[in-house]
Amino acid sequence: MEGRLINSSSSLPDTKSAPEADSSVLQIWGGQPLRGHVKISGAKNSALVIMAAALLCPEDCRIRNVPLLADVERMGQVLTTLGVRVERQDDALVINAKDFSTSKAPYELVTQLRASFFAIGAILARLGIAQMPLPGGCAIGARPVDLHVRGLQAMGAEVQIEHGICNAHLHGNNRRLQGAKIYLDSPSVGATETLMMAATLADGETVLENAAREPEVVDLANFCISMGAKIQGAGTSTITIQGVEKLHSTDYSIIPDRIEAGTFLMAGAITGSEILLSPVVPEHLFPVIAKLREVGIPIFQEAADCLRVAPASVIKATNIETLPHPGFPTDVQAPFMSLLAIAEGDSLINETVFENRLRHASELNRLGADIRIKGNVAFVRGVPMLSGAPVRGTDLRAAAALVVAGLAASGKTTIKGLSFLDRGYDRLDLKLQQLGAKIQRLSEAEAGADFAPLSEN
Ligand code: UD1
Repeated sequence: MEGRLINSSSSLPDTKSAPEADSSVLQIWGGQPLRGHVKISGAKNSALVIMAAALLCPEDCRIRNVPLLADVERMGQVLTTLGVRVERQDDALVINAKDFSTSKAPYELVTQLRASFFAIGAILARLGIAQMPLPGGCAIGARPVDLHVRGLQAMGAEVQIEHGICNAHLHGNNRRLQGAKIYLDSPSVGATETLMMAATLADGETVLENAAREPEVVDLANFCISMGAKIQGAGTSTITIQGVEKLHSTDYSIIPDRIEAGTFLMAGAITGSEILLSPVVPEHLFPVIAKLREVGIPIFQEAADCLRVAPASVIKATNIETLPHPGFPTDVQAPFMSLLAIAEGDSLINETVFENRLRHASELNRLGADIRIKGNVAFVRGVPMLSGAPVRGTDLRAAAALVVAGLAASGKTTIKGLSFLDRGYDRLDLKLQQLGAKIQRLSEAEAGADFAPLSEN
């Protein structure tokens, strides 16, 4: 099979802060019921961090079921600038970090892709030195990296932040990081992953207390185990890693994307449709399925890896609070808000994970929703119907929420901010088209929509 090398110079739109730079829009004619089967892609958040973990191994790592996303392309570029060979072969990436020798990651790429900062643990473990630009905040919040830094310090690394660069290196004559007992103040997904990667090659045992329990953390652990790492307890709050000297080649398939699946469940629910989704891991979606059932959406498990969503007789209001896994995922909060916008009654959404992740509310209001924001709480008064309008996504999941809402809104919805959407959804518009949605990607000029200035909140 002929592969395609991911090139460090291949240019992508700036997907972090400039949706305006991407002039394409999605146009949706709402009110069409969806029908059929949708194939769920591999998990974005697993793919990105597993690509970083391939740095730990000097041999070929074949990673299967990698979604086609702007963020994956960008992570590939980060790795190639470090001297790593990254080749795409259909749905797989073959990564070889044998000649990886550069400890300094490029500013332009890391600041556009927060997950690339998580590679600091793997770079430090392999090379004994790492220089990572701070990823900075983003549209949904400040997103510090203090837990990553403190964990690496506990493992014996000297870490200093100077001029926006996180410089980490091993003490004195130490060749390896030292195993340590680390308590995380909060169960950060990224910090758990950074420290787990660092610990795989450390000298001795590392125990991560109050670790994140997300399925993507477990996926990363399983990937590392497939390379010979000794990790126990991933998926619980205590992860124990016995460091080994070296990891070896692997062939690994990543888990289905529970957030993409959650978004399709919302799309089916809001349009009163019957659709099948696979492959999925239903347990990963437990909190989402539980809340959907609570509001009256019938969801059936058709097979071990297949779900069916069916039309509801009525969509009821409910309250949700986003929490670390196994709580309700913050990444599905925005599309769920779209559904609650047309529920019968008043709902309350409390976003507890990120400080600025309710910006889609004002755009949903442009589609006729009735949502008020106070701090990190959204009060959603259900309306009978949404109506199409020009709107813009302000971050990845906000853009997805607008697509979900647009599918149910009467008339035409035109959505801007697709560079956000393309970061994390593998051909969402095409998958929806295949389900019968009237959705197309156009240039802004072709769409001819009038966009209001971005509202502040
Ligand atoms: C990951 C996911 C993201 C998801 C989030 C929460 C990836 C690539 N992204 O992001 O899609 O929404 O988990 O499920 O996997 N925090 C600190 N200090 C730190 C690290 C985090 O204060 O050192 C705070 C953050 O600002 C945030 C909270 O902890 O408020 C949770 O963040 P975290 O779990 O680290 O999210 P990410 O790993 O960045």
